[in-house]
Amino acid sequence: MLNIGVLGSGSGSNFQAIQDAIKAGKIAARINCVASDVADAYILERARKEGIAAAHIDCSPFKTKIEGEGARRMIDYLDEHEVDFVVLAGFMRMVKEPLLSAFPLRMVNIHPALLPAFPGLASWKQALEYGAKLAGCTVHFIDAGMDTGPIILQRAVPVEDDDTPESLHARIQVEEHIAYPEAIGLIAEGRVEVAGRRVLIDRGNLSRI
Ligand code: GRF
Repeated sequence: MLNIGVLGSGSGSNFQAIQDAIKAGKIAARINCVASDVADAYILERARKEGIAAAHIDCSPFKTKIEGEGARRMIDYLDEHEVDFVVLAGFMRMVKEPLLSAFPLRMVNIHPALLPAFPGLASWKQALEYGAKLAGCTVHFIDAGMDTGPIILQRAVPVEDDDTPESLHARIQVEEHIAYPEAIGLIAEGRVEVAGRRVLIDRGNLSRI
């Protein structure tokens, strides 16, 4: 049973998809707490509606990373809630020390692009502007780089001629809400093995979710 802590900065639709899959009995895990670096992020409200502990964690003085004292505050909060696995769901900061080393291969992220293409911000917009014909999402482990950790799962979507950044992001998010619960479910069942940069998945005979 994974004891999950979710970190997010925004709407929390991925948190919701994971929580819904847990409630439906599809993932052997529970979400012990949710933390946000943004005091009024909707993800905190979603968590409270689900009866899950939720808190704003001050990550200042930095704006784009969690490091030093802020990272220490986050670790304390996660420890307080006995978290052993961290899920980044729209958390808009780079993870630095000491948080990075506190959960080795126990921290995952979802990125709205088919990595290694289009790391960084607003990846769906990058894909559209580049003229890519396929976009998608990637679930990966966190390492020290920006969106560079070992890839667990990817799902692709077509880019349509009449797409706007918003319509493409919405199509990608539908796939995120499938990929993220699936990846966490596989990890919770001990079906995921990391071999250097490659992540090997034992799916058995099950077709999941
Ligand atoms: C998603 O597109 C995710 O890929 C990116 O941030 C967005 C978060 O959305 N990292 P939500 O807060 O889960 O709705």
